[in-house]
Amino acid sequence: MFIDKLSVKNLRNISQADLQLNKKTNIVIGENAAGKTTILESIDILSRGKSFRTNKTENLVRKGQETFYVGATLGNNKKKLEIEKGRSKTRIVVDNKEEKKQSALAEGLAVQTIHPHSHLLIEGAPSERRAFLDWGLFHVEQEFREVSLRYNKVLRQRNEALRSMDKIDDRWMEELASVGKDLSEMREKYVSHIKAFLDQTRQYIMPEYDLNFIYYKGWDDKKSLLEALQEKKERDFERGYTSQGPQNADLKIFLNETEAHRICSRGQQKLIANIMLLSQSKGFFEVKKYPSIILVDDLSAELTLEMQEKILERLFETKSQIFLTALNDSVLADILSEMEASVFHVEHGEIVQ
Ligand SMILES: Nc1ncnc2c1ncn2[C@@H]1O[C@H](COP(=O)(O)OP(=O)(O)OP(=O)(O)O)[C@@H](O)[C@H]1O
Ligand SMILES: [Mg+2]
Repeated sequence: MFIDKLSVKNLRNISQADLQLNKKTNIVIGENAAGKTTILESIDILSRGKSFRTNKTENLVRKGQETFYVGATLGNNKKKLEIEKGRSKTRIVVDNKEEKKQSALAEGLAVQTIHPHSHLLIEGAPSERRAFLDWGLFHVEQEFREVSLRYNKVLRQRNEALRSMDKIDDRWMEELASVGKDLSEMREKYVSHIKAFLDQTRQYIMPEYDLNFIYYKGWDDKKSLLEALQEKKERDFERGYTSQGPQNADLKIFLNETEAHRICSRGQQKLIANIMLLSQSKGFFEVKKYPSIILVDDLSAELTLEMQEKILERLFETKSQIFLTALNDSVLADILSEMEASVFHVEHGEIVQ
């Protein structure tokens, strides 16, 4: 689904903006602190309820205001998505009907982001890579949402039982093992689904390197999850939490057979993160038959011009609706101005098309 119209109110330095978007490529150009990233953030917020830059709503609300608003009309089905959010209030509206869950918006809008902290996908905590896998599964695997909610609920219940020294915690173990196995199998299947895309994109962006992605389940894979839970039962009881299971899963990344986070430069990490996100969007298109939305904030940071151009080519190949930011008078802005795209000039929070 692509966004046709975007409306933003009281988000950071933008008091009001109404944009008619391009189905394919949208370029946001301006000086430092003009409000370029804020426009990209608005789209991320509309999908996930939070921005790639902060989890704190109070940072997002324009100074002196109580709430911000982001609304969009999607291009093909005219679906209308809206969110209004303040310190103690969130209102989610889909087609003029209030909804309780953020997932009502995320279902309609699949947004991926490449930003100056994307290297954290490589050197950050395993939770970053689980979030990457779970984004893909949320959108392409129908049963994922239910299985993941169920798993988290049973895990919480078991952890509470362990903490309250409730000796009957065994009743959670079998269910945890069964739902955990389903969740883990979905993730493994997803990794094999995107592997071909990962290799294709790697050949283009990092042809001289060998790159491998191996899913680690979160327990000793020679054992079933139930066996692993049983084996660690006493220790879990002493510590008050469940030490084995998909909550510890990781996607291990190897560059020429060494774990990437140990040896990669910042630029190499960014390239790998780009390869992962581009491959994921291709996998998304293959299953959904419609493109995702990709936000690219400040592509030029830490990448050579040659690399930026390679990534741009692959970006356009994904068929996604793309939003890119560039500084006024930058080489990237020059390259982008050659492309068929809608260009938005931002100055002190005011946007001119
Ligand atoms: N809550 C807020 N209320 C008002 N203004 C804010 C708020 N949060 C941030 N700003 C301001 O909004 C402006 C836009 O920031 P943004 O990060 O979008 O700029 P940018 O164009 O991406 O800049 P850069 O090129 O430096 O990345 C900045 O001047 C910032 O100080
Ligand atoms: Mg910015």
